[in-house]
Amino acid sequence: MAPPLTILGLESSCDDTAAAVLRGRAVLASVVMGQTELHAAFGGVVPEIAARAHAEKLDLAVEQALAQAGVTLADLDAIAVTAGPGLIGGVLSGVMLAKGLATGLGKPLIGVNHLAGHALTPRLTDDMTYPYLMLLVSGGHCQFLIVRGAEDFTRLGGTIDDAPGEAFDKTARILGLPQPGGPSVEAAARDGDPARFRFPRPLLDRPGCDLSFSGLKTALLRQRDALVADQGGLHVQDRADLCAGFQAAVRDVLAEKTRRALALYLDENPKTPGFAIAGGVAANGPIRAAMQDLCAEHDVRFVAPPLALCTDNAAMIAWAGAELFAAGHRDDMTLVARPRWPLDQNAAPLVGSGKKGAKA
Ligand code: KG4
Ligand code: ZN
Repeated sequence: MAPPLTILGLESSCDDTAAAVLRGRAVLASVVMGQTELHAAFGGVVPEIAARAHAEKLDLAVEQALAQAGVTLADLDAIAVTAGPGLIGGVLSGVMLAKGLATGLGKPLIGVNHLAGHALTPRLTDDMTYPYLMLLVSGGHCQFLIVRGAEDFTRLGGTIDDAPGEAFDKTARILGLPQPGGPSVEAAARDGDPARFRFPRPLLDRPGCDLSFSGLKTALLRQRDALVADQGGLHVQDRADLCAGFQAAVRDVLAEKTRRALALYLDENPKTPGFAIAGGVAANGPIRAAMQDLCAEHDVRFVAPPLALCTDNAAMIAWAGAELFAAGHRDDMTLVARPRWPLDQNAAPLVGSGKKGAKA
């Protein structure tokens, strides 16, 4: 058997500058340099600031990753880089560095779709077999995919407006809880009564697997304003009940749409059925439990990769690069950075999705 490949991965599509070294399935190093403090004053990721930070930090991230992995550039078999989708300045920084390294070292170059990186992670962490169903739920994305191969994805549906993580973050902002909103809303919800406020379950009345979360946030805002008008402010219990009601609505919508996506997937009679959830929202206890229950009900293997490999990182890019490399895929100096790059080229384009930007 051939020795496992050693691959350097680079990721710079949003606000994390990341480099990783993979040998086979072993993550020898995974360095993630965040930029949260650079964007904190602006209420979102500022593309120009992100791009400059990536350009400054990428080579440091590579140096650190190589040192942690105990390998040199000469030991690498290939260089994999996120070539999109994402904020174009950041993606360009990564692609240019990867091209420079590949040319200077005479090593193969592989451009990777960032979403494919997320979608293939369950194969790195849990050796998941194709085809499996994937729910990607993060601050910027929400979609159901049947993953059939490293370049073969079917999109069953996704959000038509906000992503769930974005809705959690906005809910936290509306209720004066700290960012990121997911963990603080989940913590507050623990003491709350989910039945006190009944929030809408958007799009459940429509067939299919598309989701919507922006109406939920508006309903929460109205409820908060009504309470403030009525009582002059919010009690801690009100806040907990609002969080619990909101979280239950997100959970119910995700669970029902997952039930439908599972039915479509299982209709194809996969030999070893599997479902994976990834993205920051996968950390949510009640949401994760609802998915786990659904899988148990249908005899489907449930996988949730460790959070560090679910959120943006470069190990997933190196892994996707390794899969593409094994399939004979190579890029050259014509590799371009793509701000948009849908995984499923046949899926209908979405209206208004991914408002927060390119973070996936
Ligand atoms: O995957 P991720 O780190 O970054 C993106 O690519 O967006 O996801 C971050 C998102 C944030 O919106 C955050 O509020 C949400 O994931 N999140 C959660 C929880 N932990 C993080 N949402 C709900 N419950 C959580 N426990
Ligand atoms: Zn991502």
